Amino acid sequence: MSQPDSALDVHGLGKAYGRHVALHELTLRVPRGEVFGFLGPNGAGKTTAVKLLTGLARPTAGGGQLLGRPLGDREARRKLGFLPELFRFHDWLSATELLDLHGGLLDMPLAARRQRIPEVLALVGLADRVGDRIGTFSKGMQQRLGLAQALLNEPDLVILDEPTSALDPIGRRDVRAIIQHLKQRGVTVFLNSHLLSEIELVCDRVAIVDHGRVVQQGRLDDLLGRGHELELRLTGLNHDVLAALPPAWNVQTCELGEQEQRLVLAVGHASDAVEVTRFLVAQSVGLLELRPRRTSLEDLFLQWVDGARPEEAAPATSAERAELAAS
Ligand SMILES: Nc1ncnc2c1ncn2[C@@H]1O[C@H](COP(=O)(O)OP(=O)(O)OP(=O)(O)O)[C@@H](O)[C@H]1O
Ligand SMILES: [Mg+2]
Repeated sequence: MSQPDSALDVHGLGKAYGRHVALHELTLRVPRGEVFGFLGPNGAGKTTAVKLLTGLARPTAGGGQLLGRPLGDREARRKLGFLPELFRFHDWLSATELLDLHGGLLDMPLAARRQRIPEVLALVGLADRVGDRIGTFSKGMQQRLGLAQALLNEPDLVILDEPTSALDPIGRRDVRAIIQHLKQRGVTVFLNSHLLSEIELVCDRVAIVDHGRVVQQGRLDDLLGRGHELELRLTGLNHDVLAALPPAWNVQTCELGEQEQRLVLAVGHASDAVEVTRFLVAQSVGLLELRPRRTSLEDLFLQWVDGARPEEAAPATSAERAELAAS
């Protein structure tokens, strides 16, 4: 049964196109108010999953709930915002006319449309293009308009399929800010993306899908939490101090230069930096720089996605890299 605090709750959701299985038994729960990242390489099944969640395609296995109602339910869709991956708008309409058309399809009263349309256009940075025909918009401007369309009905859940694929770095930063703004207002966001650094910045929880199967999912902090490292630039570090280091701090890299020394320690948690600093200062070691690092989402992605990296190629984690560098 779906939990009332879930925006999405699906079990064994699958889609086969003839004999080709695009999505195998997707089971996931997205708590309300969270930002969920759905990641995977091309053809992994992300858009297929989104089509099933939004009711645009019928599952061939399993099912679930969206905002507490069965997938495809019209009432639930009223509170859903959706930016499709391959959007194509009417070239001859203006931005305002397009949103007015969508507002009408959503049964929004005229007064609500008049108020909301300029608001969402301003939110996506198109306030100065409201009357221009969409045919004169660049691809990135059309994607911004698509995002405005997805937010028009003040949705409880927003599903965005690659929302920044056409955007420049400023546009990407703007979309991140919009997602954070939505989260602050308690809106749930389901985000399909290849852009791992972006996902890392905004998502609470992620699932990695490959060949139609979820290969890893969980809270981002838990997934990335394993593998914290501290990178230090020091003066006065010598073999005696190294020998006295507590065994819980694993030396990944050590370069003992004459002027300064570089040390990379694998630690249990980033907050171990405090203890490491105390220890080194007590040993009369000078601290020039201390930088916490943790496994990146890209490390995790490459580790889990089949075929993305041959076993003997680039090592998956920074710890593995350090090991190789030291050997
Ligand atoms: N309508 C369809 N008919 C047949 N096969 C399809 C159809 N739609 C998708 N597929 C297949 O399902 C698989 C998953 O496609 P999907 O579009 O879900 O991938 P994706 O993860 O969104 O990829 P991308 O990152 O390129 O957008 C692919 O092998 C694709 O060829
Ligand atoms: Mg896709």
